[in-house]
Amino acid sequence: MNRRPIGVFDSGIGGLTVVRELMRQLPHESLIYFGDTARVPYGNKSPETVRRFSREILEFLLSRDVKLVVVACNTATAHALEELRRVAPVKVEGVIEPGARAAVAASRSGRIGVIGTAGTVASGAYVRAIEAVDGRVQVAAQACPLFVPLVEEGWLDHAATRLIAEEYLAPLRAHDIDTLVLGCTHYPLLKPLLSSLLGPSIALIDSAEQTAAAVSRELARSTLHAPAAATGHVHFVVSDAPKQFVKVGKMFLGERVKDVEVKVMGET
Ligand code: DGL
Repeated sequence: MNRRPIGVFDSGIGGLTVVRELMRQLPHESLIYFGDTARVPYGNKSPETVRRFSREILEFLLSRDVKLVVVACNTATAHALEELRRVAPVKVEGVIEPGARAAVAASRSGRIGVIGTAGTVASGAYVRAIEAVDGRVQVAAQACPLFVPLVEEGWLDHAATRLIAEEYLAPLRAHDIDTLVLGCTHYPLLKPLLSSLLGPSIALIDSAEQTAAAVSRELARSTLHAPAAATGHVHFVVSDAPKQFVKVGKMFLGERVKDVEVKVMGET
């Protein structure tokens, strides 16, 4: 048993979808969430830059004595997970492997689609992770860079979002996929819209949900879980604009986003 917090980080606000799932599945665990709001978005930055930012955040979380680190950001997982795992003295869980495993388990036809930021898709990380689970599967990936600002604008069921989604989904429909991985922190909020466009025959895989389940398994395996009598709490830290974080964060987590600490990171 271990009462130390779990460290969770993201490029900004979207990682709150992972926090929401961690709170739901692991109510006894305390979390420290770092959102790099000064340097968001990561989705269009180079792998080297995302790795540098991720290393700095890992150091910060370790200075807060975390027992495990969750890279909630798909782009940071794609570019930096391997390196963070190499250097961290604690377990580091990303969002890509859990989503990949769930996608293979859900697909009957072996035709899987992945959507994510430009950086995540260009890295090929989801394709590699899915093929590592099952080499016979065919994967089609599509970058959807306009989804992140649309979600942050609260346009979750807006005509403009529908139109853009139709455009992004067209090549995936052409691949006749039966499973779609929501490979970006923000996309779980678009689930109702995406499933209304794709219909019930296409399974939507929420990486946030799968990642929380993987963290739960890891805590059990390493006997690091908090005592059942403990009540988990979340401490929020951002690198800029805490008021905006609280405002947009409400869409992800309701009134639970409050008391936000600001920690300025190295150069932007
Ligand atoms: N958190 C990012 C991801 O999951 C999306 C936002 C960004 O581009 O930084 O890929």
